[in-house]
Amino acid sequence: MGALDGRVAIITGAGRGVGREHALLFAKEGASVVVNDLGAANDGSGSDVGPAQQVANEIIAAGGQAVANTDDVSSTEGAQAMIDQAVSEFGDLNILVNNAGILRDRMLVNMSDADWDDIMRVTLRGHFAPTRAAAQYWRTTSKERGITPANIVNTSSTSGLFGNVGQTNYGAAKSGLGSFTHIAQMELERYGVTVNAIAPSARTRLTMSVPGAAEAEEERLKTVDVTEWDPRGPENIAPFVAWLATADCPSKGRTYFVQGGAVYLFQPWAIVDKIEKEGLWTVEELKEAAPKFADYKFNLNLPY
Ligand SMILES: NC(=O)c1ccc[n+]([C@@H]2O[C@H](COP(=O)([O-])OP(=O)(O)OC[C@H]3O[C@@H](n4cnc5c(N)ncnc54)[C@H](O)[C@@H]3O)[C@@H](O)[C@H]2O)c1
Repeated sequence: MGALDGRVAIITGAGRGVGREHALLFAKEGASVVVNDLGAANDGSGSDVGPAQQVANEIIAAGGQAVANTDDVSSTEGAQAMIDQAVSEFGDLNILVNNAGILRDRMLVNMSDADWDDIMRVTLRGHFAPTRAAAQYWRTTSKERGITPANIVNTSSTSGLFGNVGQTNYGAAKSGLGSFTHIAQMELERYGVTVNAIAPSARTRLTMSVPGAAEAEEERLKTVDVTEWDPRGPENIAPFVAWLATADCPSKGRTYFVQGGAVYLFQPWAIVDKIEKEGLWTVEELKEAAPKFADYKFNLNLPY
């Protein structure tokens, strides 16, 4: 008996990296999987039907149920086509894992409009378009047959939540997904949908493209025995995502950092200090009262 028996899942960007591992585990746990992947390069350019089809073939060869989809997650038509394909192939849709992502790292002073816009398109629109299409489907089904559990898992990044030099575009989009997750949960609860987000950390094509990362990984693999378990392997992220995708998962609107065998819970934006006056502040008064904000020490509980 699998944890996702009989459920239908779409996983975007599932042709490679962490999404591929989600797809393989979801199928092993009994889900029928729409394996979406445009087959793009790290920077989002190009397309290739190969990765999505290969993962679907792998699932089918192992006795599971899967179909490939090569739509662009940021396109309204592509997002709708994904949902339609899940319903026409497998009769329903219960889970959407928004995972597709790209990088365009540049220092802010050198960032082009295209570097900014493409990241926003694939990251934010690429979460929004499939989520809207899935939510519209669940709104309809909740009216037709009553509420049945559905789950959305979004993919953020510590680059956004903690910040990372060279990634104002990617980081802004990824931290935006924290708010997107929180607000989508508020809106979709009435249709029986849970919406959570993870920030993964693992060795993939994307992370190995960061300057120096491939060399550091090569060195690490010389010193660490990974025959039993590799803490940097992309397969480590999938079990927690599968749990977030179970029909009775109690987690709602939360964001987690998942790395190796560790899962960390983020707290949302929270107020930690205040100043107040009964009336209009003068700038002079604020010069006295407000500097304590600049000195406030946040406890980020950074795990690295
Ligand atoms: N690997 C990490 O450590 C890490 C860290 C933080 C965040 N992430 C996020 O995790 C997700 C998966 O990343 P990964 O490391 O597995 O990368 P990856 O490059 O191995 O896989 C991403 C996949 O998304 C696909 N894709 C890109 N644009 C697409 C589009 N418009 N439509 C459909 N598919 C598209 C690519 O073809 C690729 O196969 C991304 O959202 C990434 O930002 C990863």
